[in-house]
Amino acid sequence: MAYSNGMKFSISDDRLDSIGELLKETKDIPGDTAELGVFRGGTSRYIAERMHDRIHYAIDSFRGLPYPNEKDGKALRSIWEKRDGKFFSFSPAKVRQYFDPLENIEIIQGFFPRCITLGMRAANYSFVHLDGDIYQTTLDGLKFFWPRMSEGGIIVLDDYDCRRTPGCKIAFDEYFSKDQPQIHKKALPQVWIVK
Ligand SMILES: C[S@@+](CC[C@H](N)C(=O)[O-])C[C@H]1O[C@@H](n2cnc3c(N)ncnc32)[C@H](O)[C@@H]1O
Repeated sequence: MAYSNGMKFSISDDRLDSIGELLKETKDIPGDTAELGVFRGGTSRYIAERMHDRIHYAIDSFRGLPYPNEKDGKALRSIWEKRDGKFFSFSPAKVRQYFDPLENIEIIQGFFPRCITLGMRAANYSFVHLDGDIYQTTLDGLKFFWPRMSEGGIIVLDDYDCRRTPGCKIAFDEYFSKDQPQIHKKALPQVWIVK
């Protein structure tokens, strides 16, 4: 796991490197950036530092995952139940402090999609990291962001090809049932699609 200013990332180094490369590719694409599923903030800060000419929306309940449904599989549901939904809950004040040096991050605290703001609705996006781990969050994320992606914009799905989080792939296949974009893979289970 990588560290940045003492903050541990939840994603592996190869996935983070892949995000870095994709951000370079979207430098000239107009639009803001977003991460749905921020946890301790490592990846959001990584994105915002590299794309400081635009707003980065960092979206999380900071209270952990919503209850996984049957598409997320028994294993994830039983972990959720054992920990009473508390895994991945993290202090938003600490995240705010961690983001402090950066002026281009807007923290959106709440459960997606209820927390969507007017600003988010009006924006177009050049880069989005979907890292909500469960079916419903992934589906809601695709429904909201995909129509708002600029041409050439990129959505990265962190958990697409992951046995622990089967709901993400189910949501993707369901959303793109008719016209699936090409899926790019480099650092599985992460994949990305280009608008
Ligand atoms: C795997 S963690 C994110 C890790 C983070 N991207 C990183 O790289 O460090 C998943 C996060 O998604 C958040 N989450 C999942 N579904 C959500 C929803 N519908 N609304 C808000 N937050 C959600 C959880 O609170 C949790 O913090």
